[in-house]
Amino acid sequence: MKPESKDSKYKILFVCLGNICRSPAAEGVMKTIVDELGASSLFYIDSAGTGGYHVGDDPDHRMRIHARRRGYELQHKCRKVSELDFDRFDLIIGMDDSNIANLRRLAPTVEAEAKIHRMAEYIDLAGGFYDAVPDPYYEGSEGFELVLDLLENGCRNLANQLLNSD
Ligand code: 4NP
Repeated sequence: MKPESKDSKYKILFVCLGNICRSPAAEGVMKTIVDELGASSLFYIDSAGTGGYHVGDDPDHRMRIHARRRGYELQHKCRKVSELDFDRFDLIIGMDDSNIANLRRLAPTVEAEAKIHRMAEYIDLAGGFYDAVPDPYYEGSEGFELVLDLLENGCRNLANQLLNSD
């Protein structure tokens, strides 16, 4: 059972298309990072998808295997993002252009739309420029490893940015 969001200082929703690869991995990585920083009580972290094909499913088995190798146990049941999420969360972070466009269509107000961010805003991984976290679904192992490299870097930067802004 997930804790209530209303008591947390930072409420973050990660969003991708299927909610079985990138966004549940982002949720798991971010939870681990804030836990390591001793700040998990300040955060409410969840994930959702813009598509509804896999609602109720566990994360993709390939994503779970790659994540587990780095110490992340992904525990999430796929759900579709909803208009209500704009009330529940402060930051709604999409993985790619298509996710962002879909979120903008769903945002009920301009204030809600201002909560939408790109994951790439937080990524400064050495050795490349990334303007998206690419969909690994039709890729091989390298695709899943790249997703985890980008998410570890971006989530660490996001956590530090939030915690250091106080
Ligand atoms: P995700 O990856 O958006 O990172 O969860 C995908 C998962 C499933 C599908 C596409 C992308 N799909 O087409 O079923």
